[in-house]
Amino acid sequence: MNILGIESSCDEMAAAILCGNEIVSSVVHDQTSVHQPYGGIVPELASRDHVCAISSVVCRALEAASLTEQDLDGIAVTAGPGLMGSLLVGVSFGKALAYRLEIPIVGVHHLSGHLAAAELAESSLRPPYIGLVVSGGHTALYRIDRDGRSTLLGETRDDAVGEAFDKVAKLLGLPYPGGPAISQAAQSGNPEAIVFPRPLAGQGGLDFSYSGLKTAVAVEMEARGGLAAISVPDFAASFEAAATEVLVQRTVKAVQQEGLEHVAIVGGVAANRRLRETMQRMAEQKKFRAVFPPLALCTDNAAMIAAAGARLIASGESHGVSLSAFSRVPFGEAPWRT
Ligand code: KG4
Ligand code: ZN
Repeated sequence: MNILGIESSCDEMAAAILCGNEIVSSVVHDQTSVHQPYGGIVPELASRDHVCAISSVVCRALEAASLTEQDLDGIAVTAGPGLMGSLLVGVSFGKALAYRLEIPIVGVHHLSGHLAAAELAESSLRPPYIGLVVSGGHTALYRIDRDGRSTLLGETRDDAVGEAFDKVAKLLGLPYPGGPAISQAAQSGNPEAIVFPRPLAGQGGLDFSYSGLKTAVAVEMEARGGLAAISVPDFAASFEAAATEVLVQRTVKAVQQEGLEHVAIVGGVAANRRLRETMQRMAEQKKFRAVFPPLALCTDNAAMIAAAGARLIASGESHGVSLSAFSRVPFGEAPWRT
């Protein structure tokens, strides 16, 4: 079965073709140059760029797979959560194409896509497992059970961890997107140079909080004489250490609380080198298995959406032309399913 995946929930326009468990093509059109002058994503510019790019991105995915539209057996598209204008571009295009080709189309929850990336990368990963979702919009721990059931174990009370990376990068004069820029600057810095607070450290529960950490970086910078006077690599490394340590510590707690042996770490921040290394070290120590998707499947892509949607299509599901986009959807819900 050839499934076309389409992902346009934020600032990436992506299309991919999945055949069985094999990614036969994956194209990501990145909008960094569109948003970089503004230091963050401008929703209106994101959706306008999606409109211009979608047709050629889908064509490139088909060409790279040496397939034509007629070879497609189904379409999976991100229906939420995300930026409404951006989501609508992918959903509308997908519906029109599915209608014309008379093939099924299913809406996919963006986070189901991220988790499917881990299952695609590691075939032995099967529920029940712990899912740590760390991206620009989400920071949450879930217990993932069979048949698509999930339980929220903890989540951020304010900023998402990716958002904190992006905001701190801005404070440090680093370019957007902030996550990779901080990670790179941190490589030549000392992670112990400044001891930033570990948010909610020592408190019970599995929640996260990142707005205080961002403020602590701003206050410390000011106290040391501002951007011109500080070592950006040391600040980047010390922030990265604080931000990732909390993720690892909470994940260990979730593993122990739920008595599970597998953890999938997904979303853009799962590309972070320090997080990958410290999580793997802790997994060896505490005897659990940490599964990270390959780097290209951590940040937004359409192969993960195709993988999540393929299961729905295989079970006979189709949401048809009534499929709508939803900007806010709790994980586990699918309001587009009628
Ligand atoms: O999953 P994603 O591509 O989009 C959302 O669904 O939000 O995640 C994007 C986020 C951004 O905040 C970006 O700064 C962060 O992931 N990110 C990273 C790294 N690469 C991307 N954060 C830390 N280290 C990285 N290497
Ligand atoms: Zn994402």
